[in-house]
Amino acid sequence: MIVLGIESSCDESAAAVVAFDRGDTVPRILSNVVHSQTQEHRPYGGVVPEIAARAHIEHLDGLVARAMREARLEYAQIDGIAATAGPGLIGGVLVGLMTGKGIALTHGKPLLAVNHLEGHALSVRLMRRVAFPYLLLLISGGHCQVLIVQGVGRYRLLGGTRDDAVGEAFDKTAKMLELGFPGGPAVEAAARTGRAARFALPRPLTGRKGCDFSFSGLKTAVRHAYEALPNPQPQDLADLAASFQAAVGDVLVDRCAHAMTELRGQAVGPLPFVAAGGVASNTLIRTRLEAACHSHGFEFIAPPPFLCTDNAAMIAWAGVERLAAGLVDDLDASPRARWPLEELKHRA
Ligand code: KG4
Ligand code: ZN
Repeated sequence: MIVLGIESSCDESAAAVVAFDRGDTVPRILSNVVHSQTQEHRPYGGVVPEIAARAHIEHLDGLVARAMREARLEYAQIDGIAATAGPGLIGGVLVGLMTGKGIALTHGKPLLAVNHLEGHALSVRLMRRVAFPYLLLLISGGHCQVLIVQGVGRYRLLGGTRDDAVGEAFDKTAKMLELGFPGGPAVEAAARTGRAARFALPRPLTGRKGCDFSFSGLKTAVRHAYEALPNPQPQDLADLAASFQAAVGDVLVDRCAHAMTELRGQAVGPLPFVAAGGVASNTLIRTRLEAACHSHGFEFIAPPPFLCTDNAAMIAWAGVERLAAGLVDDLDASPRARWPLEELKHRA
């Protein structure tokens, strides 16, 4: 089974081809090309939806052609076209989904209208045959959730953020401290030379029941700490970035520990624990989560960083999984700005 994937839900335009044969233990990524729109958005210090949509229009056709060329395949050899159909910035989602529909229609191939979050949720299975069910921490620019992945299209939400997503908190912190764009990697780089113990920042919701998250209070505390600095020097910014990152690490560890304890209480698990999404590419966060998993007897698994941040290989792979399950979409599938994982179609 060979699927072409297209991704355009935020500020990465991407195309990839993934193959999975009966005899394979893991799929093969035949090509995986990403154009990050960093240059386009940098002057604004954040993603501008209209600029993103126009950049997707400009780049997607070329990226798709390159992905096909690098995979050394003709469309006749492809079994399906997977395109992100949401959630995300609606202009970009429209561009990618229409591109996918056009190719599917022209070449008479099935369309897979993929939920971007399902792309992240299943991305780990591109590297390893992780069996269902598994516990998932999905940490990206738009989402922060703990779920049980029961199968393709089958998700049980255990908790989520009540305000900002964790990636959003990284991005806003970077903007506030003028560390650069994109924010997550900028905060991580600055934090490397910082002292995490310098600023006492809050750890919202830690110690509470359940596994919901909150990051807006932490973001405000960073702003207050920054504004209290009389003449901020690079070392001050590094210390504040490190203090922020440590607080995020503590919050994620606490909330996930609660999820693991709760599951144990229900005699579920230990399941594999998977971290996915752009923030899961952060080294400190991976290390902290791995240690927490070990102490709870859960195995920690995270895709390599290039599969954590937005890419089309995970969309193509979700397409393979859905095609294998017979979950093909009609050509009138609608793009969706909001599309929770619990609303996905799955096989009965
Ligand atoms: O999954 P993703 O690429 O796009 C969404 O689906 O949102 O995640 C992007 C988010 C951004 O907020 C970005 O700042 C964050 O992931 N991110 C990071 C790192 N790399 C990306 N956050 C912390 N540390 C990183 N190294
Ligand atoms: Zn994403």
